[in-house]
Amino acid sequence: MSLFSKNSLREKRAQKASQKRKQISTRAEYLLNENTSFDITEAFRNLKASISVSVPKKEGGLVIMTTSAFPKDGKTTVTVNLALMFAQSDAKVILVDADIRKGRVAKYFKEKSIPGLSDCLSGQNSLEEVVHVSNVNKNLSFITCGTHSPKPYELLESEEMRNLLQTLRAQYDYIIIDTPPVLLLSDALALSTAVDGAVLVCRHQVSYISDIQRALETLKFSKANILGVVINDYKALQTGNYYGGYKKYHYYSSYSYGSTNPYDKENADDED
Ligand SMILES: Nc1ncnc2c1ncn2[C@@H]1O[C@H](COP(=O)(O)OP(=O)(O)O)[C@@H](O)[C@H]1O
Ligand SMILES: [Mg+2]
Repeated sequence: MSLFSKNSLREKRAQKASQKRKQISTRAEYLLNENTSFDITEAFRNLKASISVSVPKKEGGLVIMTTSAFPKDGKTTVTVNLALMFAQSDAKVILVDADIRKGRVAKYFKEKSIPGLSDCLSGQNSLEEVVHVSNVNKNLSFITCGTHSPKPYELLESEEMRNLLQTLRAQYDYIIIDTPPVLLLSDALALSTAVDGAVLVCRHQVSYISDIQRALETLKFSKANILGVVINDYKALQTGNYYGGYKKYHYYSSYSYGSTNPYDKENADDED
């Protein structure tokens, strides 16, 4: 196969994947509740248990970050519900929205995004001013993403962020951080050595194995302690097993940052 045809095939696959993601709305905010099916609750319970045994217990709270290759893989859905699951087991939990560009954690708790993490890191607000106790579980607190910043990476890799995590470790059993997608933005990588472990979320029948591999390599390269991969929105009946019919490949030829970033474009229609 010539290089030309290989590239155009990759382009086609990239377009197809992008179309699939556009069809997924970002408006729904799903929280586990008493009506949630047993399978889903059990899946989150297993995820919580797997994470708990994957990281040796140290002095202070455990800091876990979640990320994915691309937007709409279900990072925020998985992260918020994982934090809630920890809180339901009587642990003291804080959920931190480190997606300073497109954070949606606030919406799950009908709260405003501002002030939040970025405002605290830039010294505009105190930690007390940005921590909210959730209305769903008194053990679960959260920090929203805060005011849009032109330099989220710099904020996340700052000394202030490390100090903030130290403070949170002293106050909570689990600090769960939602981050932007690693193959579009480097923001999450600013945290990879500050956390105890990273969980990669991928979406069944949407994520390509090659992208999952690239995301894992990117995390490894930035020295993250990768705890595992969550397959979100798994459609058991269609595939019969985890990877059956799932071996898809695509390639995103180029991504730029700032206003031309497709992360912003893909979510533009979903702005409130
Ligand atoms: N397992 C799932 N089943 C159904 N819808 C889901 C599932 N996971 C995520 N979604 C929906 O997909 C959209 C994108 O999910 P979100 O968690 O915001 O992704 P990300 O944070 O990776 O961008 C949201 O509308 C969310 O409600
Ligand atoms: Mg998100």
